Amino acid sequence: MERRKFLTEMGQVTAAACSIGFLASCSKSGDTSTTNPGTGGNTKLTANLSTELTSVGSSKINGNVIVVRTATGNTASSFSALSLVCTHQQCTVAYDASDNDFKCPCHGSEYSISGAVTQGPATVALTKYTVSINDNTLTVS
Ligand code: FES
Repeated sequence: MERRKFLTEMGQVTAAACSIGFLASCSKSGDTSTTNPGTGGNTKLTANLSTELTSVGSSKINGNVIVVRTATGNTASSFSALSLVCTHQQCTVAYDASDNDFKCPCHGSEYSISGAVTQGPATVALTKYTVSINDNTLTVS
């Protein structure tokens, strides 16, 4: 086989293989779209309100996410859900129930119960999450 003809044919074979791979990846992507994205894939924490978070000031942690009951009643506005990652240099803040705030042990930043900075050096609020309640199940997402 002539060198030029060989290279031309190899180029066509490679292009065809890439096209098949591309189409296969498109098909794979299409397969994932059949799953329902609204079925809890973004859930960070859940709590059973008949047994957990029953008193004002009580809290529950899952990983770097905390939810604190701030008021009576089982409505979303009775809870504050936040990241425990300090926005200064990513230390883990601690919930102080007696002061009703969050304190960072690394450099002294403090945050209100809603996550706002009340003392630096941090300048950015804690990440806030969404609380939803369905019957007695609280979900943070
Ligand atoms: S990491 Fe929290 S104050 Fe510096």
